[in-house]
Amino acid sequence: PFTAVWAPDGRRVQVPADVSLLTALRRDGVRVDASCEAGVCGTCRLTLLDGVADHRDAVLTGPERVGHVMACVSRARTSEIVVGP
Ligand code: FES
Repeated sequence: PFTAVWAPDGRRVQVPADVSLLTALRRDGVRVDASCEAGVCGTCRLTLLDGVADHRDAVLTGPERVGHVMACVSRARTSEIVVGP
């Protein structure tokens, strides 16, 4: 489990181990577009502003992984990550 902070309004969303970042954000009312929900299409890309992501997608290149995270499959290595659109 980890906490995702939604940068635009500072809301804190708990992401349980069995729930994706995408689903947790949506349950809290954050609109995140998605398509494949399998880490391959690139639609759900968020900006990663702080924290370290656990990248599990097949979309982002190495350099892109510095500042982005795919919400449908990727998680966090830190207890908290800060993300935005
Ligand atoms: Fe396709 Fe996340 S919805 S990569």
